[in-house]
Amino acid sequence: RIAYVNGRYLPHCDGMVHIEDRGYQFADGVYEVTAVRNGRMVDSDMHLERLERSLSELRIPMPMSPRAVLAVMEETARRNRVRDGIVYTQVTRGVARRDHAFPKAAKPAVVMTAKSMDFDGIARKAGEGVKVVSVRDIRWDRCDIKSVSLLPNCLAKQEAKDRGAFEAWMVDDEGYVTEGSSTNAWIVDADGRIVTREVSPNILNGITRRALLQLAADAGTEIVERRFTLEEAMAAREAFLTSTTSFVMPVVEIDGRPVGNGAPGMLTERLRQSYVEHAT
Ligand code: PDD
Repeated sequence: RIAYVNGRYLPHCDGMVHIEDRGYQFADGVYEVTAVRNGRMVDSDMHLERLERSLSELRIPMPMSPRAVLAVMEETARRNRVRDGIVYTQVTRGVARRDHAFPKAAKPAVVMTAKSMDFDGIARKAGEGVKVVSVRDIRWDRCDIKSVSLLPNCLAKQEAKDRGAFEAWMVDDEGYVTEGSSTNAWIVDADGRIVTREVSPNILNGITRRALLQLAADAGTEIVERRFTLEEAMAAREAFLTSTTSFVMPVVEIDGRPVGNGAPGMLTERLRQSYVEHAT
């Protein structure tokens, strides 16, 4: 496997990160995961825009133009023969002697990797739906930045796995679902409207979320962007989650209790179809 590492394409085993890279020492960096379908980057404009935003919120300079980032993404996919899969892009503040405050002259470090994914397997999983469990959201107040500081997300995902679930839905101190450990959370309410939490510093504004909101609006589906409680989710008609790697995934069980009749919902299935078409 070939990685892009600071201007060069190298076998993974030859890709080196400096021991005083601030990403390594402080998790001082950001990332993007972009889907590749039929060799094409899905929603690349929105991913590049979000990358720029995450970096600017942390005052890390964009390491190259968005067009150049896209070209490297495509080349990394190509060199790994990835036609269907993902490209992972990581930008850290760079190398400096350890000191919490920002260094004056660090050069951002850029790494990209690519891997193939079994989208048919994901489609099969979507046919059955997945289970989620709830966990407390123990993260910070800037979850809108796609930071590589993902320990709470890892703990949440591991708890989901330990409890036999696909994803963990994180719940804030007021009982509202924020999002999944690596996905956005959605329900369908009693009036058939799709509900997902409004954009704020408490969630990542998912690209799949943004694309699906547009597709749903185009199809005339009623949408409400507001927070919902875990209880509301458990009593919802349908529930689902979205991300670059799982697209639109029906949720059929929350904390051991079936959602709706315990099978993927019809509106969810329609939304999934329209997203898959959009991404293909
Ligand atoms: N995760 N919320 C969180 C906390 C995420 O990490 C992600 C993405 C999402 C969904 O965003 P998008 O639709 O842009 O993928 C929501 C990626 C896939 C990851 O960490 O692997």
